[in-house]
Amino acid sequence: MTPQLNTEQLIEAAHRYGTPLYVYHAERITHQFEQLTHSFSGLPARFFYAAKSLTNLHILNHIRQIGADVDCSSINEVKLAMKAGFRPEQILYTSNSVSFEEIAEARSLGVHINIDSLSNLTKFAEANRGSYPVGIRIRPDIMAGGNLQISTGHDRSKFGIAMADLPEVYRLICEKDLHVRVLHIHTGSEIKEVEVFLKGLDLLFELAPNFPHLQVIDLGGGFKVPYQEGEKGTDVNALAAAVSKHLYAFENRTGIDLEIWFEPGKYFVAEAGSLLCSVNVLKRSGDIEFAGVDSGLNQLIRPMFYGAYHQIDNLSNSNGVMKPYTVVGNICETDTFAEDRMMAEVREGDILCIRNAGAYGFEMASSYNARLLPAEVMFRDGSMHLIRRRQTLDDLLLAQIPLED
Ligand code: LLP
Repeated sequence: MTPQLNTEQLIEAAHRYGTPLYVYHAERITHQFEQLTHSFSGLPARFFYAAKSLTNLHILNHIRQIGADVDCSSINEVKLAMKAGFRPEQILYTSNSVSFEEIAEARSLGVHINIDSLSNLTKFAEANRGSYPVGIRIRPDIMAGGNLQISTGHDRSKFGIAMADLPEVYRLICEKDLHVRVLHIHTGSEIKEVEVFLKGLDLLFELAPNFPHLQVIDLGGGFKVPYQEGEKGTDVNALAAAVSKHLYAFENRTGIDLEIWFEPGKYFVAEAGSLLCSVNVLKRSGDIEFAGVDSGLNQLIRPMFYGAYHQIDNLSNSNGVMKPYTVVGNICETDTFAEDRMMAEVREGDILCIRNAGAYGFEMASSYNARLLPAEVMFRDGSMHLIRRRQTLDDLLLAQIPLED
């Protein structure tokens, strides 16, 4: 059965730590990882959790303890992963538009590196001359993902090395003894269709024989998780079966053995997290009933930024009559979490639960309007742990230079 926090646990967390509050469920993360390892059992597959979706150290530590590896998009994420106990061998660093110095630092830390531009690859080849194998991110010219903001593999995307530039990569391999160990793609987030992953896989298989040191195909992240009732996520069983078929056919054809890596973020943590908030104000305007809450786009930007749907439940009146509400935040601009959403009758003071907020929720939060970042709580083994205290005004001022008298 899928582990899920119950209403009493969520309300208890809200009462103990106040709202707005992010609440995560460790067993749900474990469950997600086990689904992956179960589906891909028998295949040489590795799963690197995309830390960008949620970097709290306790979450990273939990993910390490259950046996997953970690994918980082900045040198600071690499350092956070190390603080959470990941060894360099378990860390993958996939960056874009970074300075060469950042890549050199990652190299000095000994982590796996995927390089995203010809410019940095050339510098890397020159500096390392075959002493440090790397991955290269290819831009496969595949349009995929939930919307254009999160589509990364199409032919106008800033990500990866264009296929037209591959001859230059081959030249680096020959002339600078560049060891390309990993071919990487990541075509977007919220990819439901297994065929999209296969298209990428087959494209990298076609390129594989040109890379004498190749050991790994890295298909990135992007598994879709259901956000709305009735919606379906990526069928990871079907994906595993199809990858297995294509991989073995490739190996039989070429005699080349490869590992397959993935970098899921949402799949690990989206459904394991909720944002709890309290209703400050009810306001009727024509036929709209606004429920104004003590959170906003500064604390969960996905609805406003991507038009993302998040289910919202009224925890403190769950048996109330169903009515439509427009749930809005307390930010000084249009700040809508849900429009005309049917919910159990809402009263001022009720606690609402915004579901599936574990991925890119807290992580994309800011202190816009000088609002304080919420606290974070993790339930593990049935007990509740505060894993980040609520920000204070002093925290907001921490990096500011005090005014002189
Ligand atoms: N690997 C790479 C290289 C990535 O760029 C990403 C996400 C992932 C893995 C993980 O993708 P996931 O499995 O989480 O879909 N903030 C957006 C999603 C942006 C994803 C950016 N890159 C959202 O909230 O929908």
